Formats: sequence, structure tokens, C-alpha cells
Amino acid sequence: MITTIEVLRRWSRQQHDVGKRIGLVPTMGALHDGHLSLVNAAQQSCDATLVSIFVNPTQFAPNEDFHRYPRPLENDLRLLQTVGKELPEVFVPNVEEMYPPGFDVTVNVGRISQPFEGRVRPTHFNGVATIVLKLFLASGADVAFFGQKDFQQVCVVRKMVADFNVPIEIVVCPIVREPDGLAMSSRNRYLSAAQRKQAVVLSQSLSIAEAMIVDEKIDDAEVIRRKIRKQIETAPDMRIDYIAIADPETLQELTTIESTKPEIVILIAAQIGTTRLIDNRLIRI
Ligand code: PAJ
Repeated sequence: MITTIEVLRRWSRQQHDVGKRIGLVPTMGALHDGHLSLVNAAQQSCDATLVSIFVNPTQFAPNEDFHRYPRPLENDLRLLQTVGKELPEVFVPNVEEMYPPGFDVTVNVGRISQPFEGRVRPTHFNGVATIVLKLFLASGADVAFFGQKDFQQVCVVRKMVADFNVPIEIVVCPIVREPDGLAMSSRNRYLSAAQRKQAVVLSQSLSIAEAMIVDEKIDDAEVIRRKIRKQIETAPDMRIDYIAIADPETLQELTTIESTKPEIVILIAAQIGTTRLIDNRLIRI
């Protein structure tokens, strides 16, 4: 386990000196099969895999769950021993290592960060972009692996990499789900048994919407959004934050499912109790 940037740089140089391609999987820990699928993908296509575990304070607003965010480090390290052929290297810095006293520069993400998650969490993506850029630079990784689960996060990271010419390849892996369809998330452990049962409406509503678009060829986005809303509202404790049908590259909302576009994305976010859940589906049309 590596805890300092200095040692991480030395590790990275050693890998590159012997021609190894480094794959980075940035996480905040509380690992589940979604995270492990990224580690697996990194191990498949890279020679050295680095998993970072860091609960990044700058992406949490003061009213959010930074302090209660789960930090089961020992269990995480044990889980990482169970994936793939080779043990991944793990980077676990503390807050002072990533944000030493006097730290004063932030990546300011523009338009792509503003709708959806950005409207509900206005400082979130600047925090994400700042830590992700630091992890890219400190690790010298050649490839970084992200989950489609956080769809807008992927858009933000791609935009930062493009605009700053960061020499790294971004690979996006599919959403890993529980058997009933709920997208895996470290926050699912906050759910009570009753809430956990209701949470399934999110993925159900996406499947219904997909069938409306693909099978029934319904192209009015408002009709589809209304159906998703109705399905989510069958869960009595679920409060919808947003339901959006958008262009997957620009995140511009669509009023009609234009057949000129090969794909659209449906993004949803809802609160149940004090827990916020997100899900999305990329649909080929
Ligand atoms: P975290 O929520 O721990 O997620 C780490 C990575 O795992 C992200 O790329 C996320 O999209 C992916 N992931 C989470 N659940 C998944 C699932 N069910 N299926 C597939 N992939 C999944 O996202 C973050 O941390 C942070 O914002 C971070 C990028 C580490 C910056 O702090």
C-alpha cells in the first residue's frame, strides 16, 4: 500500500522503466462488484494496475455525507486480493497528502458540469475534476477506468482530459447491478430494508423507457419522462431530483428522440430518506 505521492511517483517510474502500461482505477473505497469490474478491466488491458482509495472532501458539499461516508479499508484491501491474476497496487493517501495546507488551485469545469448533478450539487464536479487530475498526474497512469454509473462524471473527466491535453486514455465500463436491477453503489448500504425494496423502481423505470423507445418507437421525450416519473412514484418514499433524456456527448436535453443520433442517454436521480441514488441508461436507437 502506498500513502504518499513521492512513493507513488517512484512506483510509477519503476513500472514505466520496464515498459509496463499503468491502469488507474480511482475510487472512494467501500468497494463493491462495480468497482471490482473496473479493476478487472484494468488488469485485462494493462500490465500494472493501481487502485486509489480516497474519500475526496472537495467533491462533497457541507450538507453532504463526507463524514459518514463508509471507510471499510481493511475489507477493501481484502476484496482487492480476490480480483484477477495479480495483486493491484493500492494508493491510500490522507487528506493532507492530497490537499496540503495552503492548497489553492481548483479545476473549474464549464458547461458540461452544470445540468443534472451539477444543478443539485454545484461544487461537486470541480472537486471531482481537481482530485482526478491530481491522481492522473501523481500516478502517471496511461489509462484510467471509470464506470458508466456516474455518467456525467465521465463527461466531465473526458472534457478535462481533452481541454488540458492530459496524456491518458479513458475507458468506460458498464454499470454493474444487483440481481433485481439496482445499480451497485457504496451508498446502497445506507438503505433500510424497506427503502432497498423501493429502490428497484429506478432501474425498472429505465427498462420501461427503453422498451418505449426501442420497441414502441415513441419519440416524444416528455411522454417517456412522464412514464418514468409515474413508475418511480409507485415507490412511496422516493423523491425525484431529475429525469432527463439527453445527448450522451453534450448532455443537451432532447425534446424528441431524434433518429439522426445513434444513441441517447436517460439520466435519473432520486432521494429516498437521506440517501441519494442515481442511475442511467444509454440507448441505441
Ligand atoms: P466511487 O463512487 O467510489 O466510484 C469509483 C468508480 O467506480 C467510478 O468510476 C464509478 O462510476 C464506478 N462505479 C461505481 N458504481 C458502479 C457500478 N455499479 N458499476 C460500474 N461502475 C461503478 O466516482 C467516484 O468514486 C469519485 O467521484 C472519484 C472518481 C474516485 C473521484 O473522487
